[in-house]
Amino acid sequence: MDCILDLWPQRKLKMNSKQGILNFAVLASGRGSNLQAIIKAIKSGKIKAYLKVVISDKKEAYALEHAKQAGIPALYINPKDFHDREAFDRAVVERLHEFKIDFVVLAGYMRLLGSYFIRQYPDKILNIHPSLLPAFKGLHAMEDAFNYGVKVTGPTVHFVIDGMDEGPIILQEPVTVGPHDTFESLKEKIHQAEHRIYPEAIDLFVRGCLKVEGRKVKLFS
Ligand code: GAR
Repeated sequence: MDCILDLWPQRKLKMNSKQGILNFAVLASGRGSNLQAIIKAIKSGKIKAYLKVVISDKKEAYALEHAKQAGIPALYINPKDFHDREAFDRAVVERLHEFKIDFVVLAGYMRLLGSYFIRQYPDKILNIHPSLLPAFKGLHAMEDAFNYGVKVTGPTVHFVIDGMDEGPIILQEPVTVGPHDTFESLKEKIHQAEHRIYPEAIDLFVRGCLKVEGRKVKLFS
């Protein structure tokens, strides 16, 4: 069951917390169903890491409410308070450093991270995208896939690098589009798949079971 971080000394994670447990942050802009699945996986002991803070760029994001209900600090940072994207990213990173964050999980965070942010956490930022990448990048992936008429789609968890939805792929789960699926029913199936693979990917990452080799991520177990 144990994988080890020493498999990838080049990415050896700093253990910031006293107990040797990794600290992470979730960044979210929306309803936060992936955040909820992550919180559930922490509570059940599947993810053994410390979710220290949830940050949103949207005041009304329900993700902030989920965080508060779980007793997790929930911060709203208003992008309009900053003159450009990098200034905003710097403010977010500053908070991440305050919370001694080791790695970052994007869960419906609808802002592109700039290179400054990514450089702070190389191979330590995970994202979930609702299509089988590299198909249907962008903000409307589910609609685009459905309207295109694909027979199979599904979510992707990947590392974040410079470039939208482009990082090395950690996990994907195929979701079949049935003849009777509507956009709504398909969306629901994709969300359910997301809630399975995101906690799974985070657990693999936390246990040091992922090794990035160029575009490829090797999984150990
Ligand atoms: C999820 O479907 C996620 O894949 C998508 O936003 C949704 C957030 O849902 N992310 C992207 O499209 C990023 N490009 P949630 O707020 O209920 O977790």
